[in-house]
Amino acid sequence: MEIELMSESVALETVPSDAVLGAEIGGVNASAPLAPDVFQTIDDALKERIVVCLPGQWLSPGQLVTFGQQFGELEPHVLSQYHHPDHPEVLVLSNVVENGKALGFRDAGSYWHSDLSYKDKPTKYTILHAREVPDVGGDTLFVSGYAVYEALPNSLRTRVSGMRAIHSYAFRHEQMIAKNKLRAPLTSEQKRAVPDVSHPAVRTHPDTGRKALYINPGFTKAFDGLAPAESKALLDDLYSIALRPEFSYRHNWRKGDVLIWDNRCSMHLADGGYGEDQRRLMHRVTVRGTAPV
Ligand code: SIN
Repeated sequence: MEIELMSESVALETVPSDAVLGAEIGGVNASAPLAPDVFQTIDDALKERIVVCLPGQWLSPGQLVTFGQQFGELEPHVLSQYHHPDHPEVLVLSNVVENGKALGFRDAGSYWHSDLSYKDKPTKYTILHAREVPDVGGDTLFVSGYAVYEALPNSLRTRVSGMRAIHSYAFRHEQMIAKNKLRAPLTSEQKRAVPDVSHPAVRTHPDTGRKALYINPGFTKAFDGLAPAESKALLDDLYSIALRPEFSYRHNWRKGDVLIWDNRCSMHLADGGYGEDQRRLMHRVTVRGTAPV
């Protein structure tokens, strides 16, 4: 019988980044069940810093699933062709092609987005594990939705606070197909799994009670009830503020990093910038959240 030992309870330090979000906690063993105080330290850091890195991990796909399940129910991605063959909860992200076959989802997240904001219950946490990283490039950028909301001019904050926006996976997928002819169209089953949804443009975080701007260029198609030109102008105004460098954190990956982030108050972008001769291989799980309010 395999006995799983709980990760030892050690004094852990959360080291914040220099940015408005991002932190690192060393000394965690993510391959074993987390001791309650270790879990608490990670959870507290997520509430405070939104993005938390646990460096130096080496998790099999099954161990990544077990690690993720400690944070809630995992939700497989709609693009089932990129599921790990033995663990459908694990989405394989990679630029690597072996024997003519792509190892994973190549251009995943190469636009600003919050994970699965196109679902009625969007992702709470994403957990991304770096298995192979390029020497240069391949960073992931994050923006704090709290910091953006708090920085909005009063008139804009008041205007957007009562509004709802439509989020659509099909809208984004069509745009990606236009850029990348190798992307397969959604099957009818996949289309049925991701109907457009409407969410408040400002959401209140269920754990912290703080408000965050909750729209993103990747999946937010339009504001509900606005004419297309007016909707686009308002989205552009909001993104021009949201994408100011002072609200962002850049994660430069090391092999073995496990990065956890809270999608309810952030958006992120896979920044690319590595050569075709470089390999990037990441395993991802997403934890289902609740309907935004
Ligand atoms: C994602 O959007 O989850 C992927 C991010 C990355 O690969 O850097």
